Amino acid sequence: MNTESQKTALITGASSGIGRELAKLFAKDGYNLVLVARSEDNLQQFGDELKQQHGLQQVTIVDKDLSKENAARDVYDEVTGQGITVNVLVNDAGVGLHGMFATETDWEKESAMIHLNTITLTHLTKLFLKDMVARNEGKILNLASIVSIMPNPLMAVYAGTKAYVYNFTQSLVNELKDTNVTITALLPNATDTDFFNKAGAENTKVTEKLDDPVMVAKDGYKALMKGEAKVVAGGLGNKSYEVLAHIAPEEALNAMMRKNMEPKDEELDGSSTNSSLAWGIGAAAAILIGIAAVAVYNNTSAYDQLRYRYKFSRAKSKVANAFNNMKDSVADTWSDAENSAKKTWANTKDEAKDRWSAGKNSAKDTWASGKDGTQESWSDARHGAKDAWSSVRKAVVDAMS
Ligand SMILES: NC(=O)c1ccc[n+]([C@@H]2O[C@H](COP(=O)([O-])OP(=O)(O)OC[C@H]3O[C@@H](n4cnc5c(N)ncnc54)[C@H](OP(=O)(O)O)[C@@H]3O)[C@@H](O)[C@H]2O)c1
Repeated sequence: MNTESQKTALITGASSGIGRELAKLFAKDGYNLVLVARSEDNLQQFGDELKQQHGLQQVTIVDKDLSKENAARDVYDEVTGQGITVNVLVNDAGVGLHGMFATETDWEKESAMIHLNTITLTHLTKLFLKDMVARNEGKILNLASIVSIMPNPLMAVYAGTKAYVYNFTQSLVNELKDTNVTITALLPNATDTDFFNKAGAENTKVTEKLDDPVMVAKDGYKALMKGEAKVVAGGLGNKSYEVLAHIAPEEALNAMMRKNMEPKDEELDGSSTNSSLAWGIGAAAAILIGIAAVAVYNNTSAYDQLRYRYKFSRAKSKVANAFNNMKDSVADTWSDAENSAKKTWANTKDEAKDRWSAGKNSAKDTWASGKDGTQESWSDARHGAKDAWSSVRKAVVDAMS
């Protein structure tokens, strides 16, 4: 199908992984392409294939190292010099680097990564966005990451660059709201590309479960076309990270992410055992309190209440399973930690149960007394959940210490 034959999409990082999959989707919809990366031969061959397969009018290859000074200006000049109007800009090119920041990673590599992941991305956005705003038409997709909204120990600088991309993009969403230009952040979880090999993280636990880059590209493409501000690629499992990032304690998030970035064959040591327990409890509490809070939301119908109750009981058993799994993996020497975690879990469960029943009653009252009471009980529930969360957080910290 050739529906967008007059339009052009410029994709950085189009030679492999997510960028390559995105290029295929644009080609399928008939976009002319500008493909940017360092591997010219690879890009040329890929571009020729897409052109032939989809009957595209024009595919332009730009061989450029985007980690270098003025790279964005060079790309912009080369493209506009050929009279090409870029209707869609995809800032996909990016790299990571694995290791302890203080003692292991190399500054030259980190500096190049910061340049590629943030400076070039920002400069390309500035140059092409100016033209888009002048035309009052255009779309931009920026590759952020799930680590844009979470800490990522052992890939600290990478996480910093992706947090930048996310915040930068969301700020521009607001600045562009009165135009026909949209900007979208794509937040993939760990994805099966060359990324982890290049980052020196090929033997880490995170690589044991990777998402399909085809799926990630499809989710990003769909959100971009709809002009959505952001999308976490994948199903509920990935999307729940976004919720947890906002409500789980930083210690628990750090513990989970650190574990992911450690070598696959790492021995189970004390800190990781404690971390697992803390993470499990943090996640459990987050799920339970989140559900209790949602249950008192103003529009809760009898049907929704039933659904929430069902979800609540599922969450409870999932959490119990998770706890049992973790318990099995705890060595005898860590029985102290286990006991303390059990105590915390009991408190957490009771607290969440109380909140749930308070929430249920409050929702019933609200339902009965109509809209007027809604604001008040929502704010009560919010405060209740906040209080519960503070005590849970304290309990988790106590369990870890
Ligand atoms: N894979 C994941 O788990 C994951 C998760 C979240 C976000 N992301 C983000 O997704 C984006 C794409 O990564 P990917 O997973 O698809 O990895 P990938 O397969 O390694 O692709 C990276 C792309 O960036 C290009 N690139 C790297 N350094 C470059 C440079 N200095 N100048 C120009 N182009 C350069 C590469 O092309 P050449 O090497 O040919 O130059 C390649 O096309 C990145 O921004 C990454 O941070 C990835």
